[in-house]
Amino acid sequence: MSRLPSELLDGLRLSLGDWSTARTLPAGCYTSADVYDLEQEVLFRRGWVGLGRSDRWKKPGDYAAVDIGGTPVVVVRDGEGELRALANVCSHRSSQIVVGQGNAERLRCPFHYWTYDLDGRLMAAPSMGRTEHFKSDMAQLCLASYRLAERHGFVLISLEDEPPDVDEWLGDLGATHQDWLLGELVTTRRREFTVDCNWKGFAEVFNEYYHLPYVHSSSIDDIYRQPDDGDVVDGAFATQFGLTDGTGGLLASESDKVLPRMSGLTGRQAQGVRYTWLFPNVMIATGAEAMWMYEVYPDGPGRTKCAQVVAVPAASLNVAGFEEKINAYYQRFDVAIDEDIPVLEQQFLGQKSPEAKQGRYSHLEPSVARFGDWYARRLLNLQ
Ligand SMILES: [Fe+2]
Repeated sequence: MSRLPSELLDGLRLSLGDWSTARTLPAGCYTSADVYDLEQEVLFRRGWVGLGRSDRWKKPGDYAAVDIGGTPVVVVRDGEGELRALANVCSHRSSQIVVGQGNAERLRCPFHYWTYDLDGRLMAAPSMGRTEHFKSDMAQLCLASYRLAERHGFVLISLEDEPPDVDEWLGDLGATHQDWLLGELVTTRRREFTVDCNWKGFAEVFNEYYHLPYVHSSSIDDIYRQPDDGDVVDGAFATQFGLTDGTGGLLASESDKVLPRMSGLTGRQAQGVRYTWLFPNVMIATGAEAMWMYEVYPDGPGRTKCAQVVAVPAASLNVAGFEEKINAYYQRFDVAIDEDIPVLEQQFLGQKSPEAKQGRYSHLEPSVARFGDWYARRLLNLQ
């Protein structure tokens, strides 16, 4: 905390509180390399960070390299079907072992072919027979492992040795989303892309209704009615429900492509969308027939790696014309995000100005303000 200028710390204090009283985050939080480094330490190397859906790793050997707080990690489903998070760094001379994603029986470093089992044990290393005590050393040269938790079909990782209790961290998240049966949804799409803006900007726009009539005037704005107030919840998340005209998952012109409603939903919940931001980096929309969500991974202050994920109840895969119908959902999600991205990139350019001010929130941005409060608390070390 002492690493940041006092001006910025004062600004963060103004972001404490709810939407009616707080100021928006200081622009420097979106552009400063020092803030970025502190975020990596405080928000990504401490607490719990989202890794998306657990069915991204379906079979033993499925792996994906991720960067969490500047730390290379490989997430892999081992031979027993257990999901593991291992340090993605070779015990020999510290090469990153795997890049991207795929399926492998072993994790083999491409540099000198040191080879690890899917649980991180060093299995083999060529031309090491003459090195003193190497065989007995091998047990200590395994890959470090990190804590993983799976809740409601989501995977969370913590790089802390003694992380906070994950159920306390999530608080009311399960209860708030109970009727959507999130743990039973199956992923039908995961699409990766990058955006030239700060990761928080991308997360914020997904969680507010304020911009809909301006950025989405000819696409999705007419789907949404005035939302409810933001829910009062415990846990590292913000959530807000709003009614929609027809489904929130389709453009109005495609409403004949509607998929079956989730079986657990009744009443108002079946007639709208709940938008949830699981802090710091996962944004979830639960509609009546589908869940669509974004994972974001900061890649410097001005660049964000994003993944769009869509999931539906397993039974929906069997409905007649499923492919055509789900494609209409994808189209609606892509249209919306393609309208958001230029605005986010324009916002990021403005945030670099030394004249950028800390603004105020509308009542249509309660989740953005709740994140701002949580963020300021963590950076100011108030919790
Ligand atoms: Fe938007």
